[in-house]
Amino acid sequence: MNALSATPHFTPAAYSPVGSEVYSGLTAFPKRLSPWLFYDERGSELFEQITELPEYYLTRIERSILSDHADAIISAAARCERLAVIELGAGTATKTGLLLAAVVRRQKTVAYYPIDVSETPLAQAKHRLESEIPGVSVTPRVADYTNGMGHTETRGERRLVLYIGSSIGNFEPADALRILRDIREPLKPGDKLLLGVDMVKDQRPLLAAYNDAAQVTAAFNLNVLVRINRELGANFEMQHFQHRAIWNEKSSRIEMHLESLVAQRVLISALDLEIGFQPGETIHTENSYKFHDEDVIEMLERAGFHLFDHWTDARDWFGEYLATAW
Ligand code: AVI
Repeated sequence: MNALSATPHFTPAAYSPVGSEVYSGLTAFPKRLSPWLFYDERGSELFEQITELPEYYLTRIERSILSDHADAIISAAARCERLAVIELGAGTATKTGLLLAAVVRRQKTVAYYPIDVSETPLAQAKHRLESEIPGVSVTPRVADYTNGMGHTETRGERRLVLYIGSSIGNFEPADALRILRDIREPLKPGDKLLLGVDMVKDQRPLLAAYNDAAQVTAAFNLNVLVRINRELGANFEMQHFQHRAIWNEKSSRIEMHLESLVAQRVLISALDLEIGFQPGETIHTENSYKFHDEDVIEMLERAGFHLFDHWTDARDWFGEYLATAW
């Protein structure tokens, strides 16, 4: 074999964000893939289905907290000023209407700036919110907020940034802190952040939420391999992998893995790469951190916010933290 025949043959897909993430993650030990890879069109649909599962308490409880306390949250955020609302990772913004309706009750109209990487859910959110809540005007922005929120011109109103749904829990602690600092950066002292987080609790409901009986979470996890097959010409066989979700007590996080059921080799053509798996070997696909009250307060302080007020449900399973930029 001469030196040239050993040169890998990359296709343009190899240089895409998906290509480089898959290359670095599957050549690492232990193997890993970033959770943002879940959210292709099918993955986003499956995530919407997860939010409606009986075991997935997060969305339901957060919605009930926002529904019970929307007016109190908005009056604490606004004090005597007019608010403009910015939302990070807004998606279809299904829970946000509860807060926007409360802002409209207070000040008649509100400008809402949802930011998300996907255009379709933002367009749906604009259409639904503007028709259901007269007084709301929606200006969507397609962007990856994990690279900074950017500046949103709000005509001098006090800004309320929403970062709800416990999305912060899908980042490693150092990245979560960097994201909160990036959120703080363009804000003025006195602007507010509402952060929604999932709390540490008994492991039974936690495990059930990520191991649902209908196996929608399993399909969501396995869909990452379907995506790699399609976008990078790989030959993963779904029946040779299984979804695993475990509670890592020490790190306060649910971990999702894809476990290889057999010894196998998988070819990823666009990367000119063959990957071997031992039986029982896993690809670590997601962490979902769960928080104690003091973790959230410390993280907010370190990012340049003071806790202002806090709302929870009767069992303390989910928390909404309102913080002021200082
Ligand atoms: C988006 N994020 C908050 C979800 C979570 O619970 O960590 C993603 C998810 N993964 C599996 N089920 C839902």
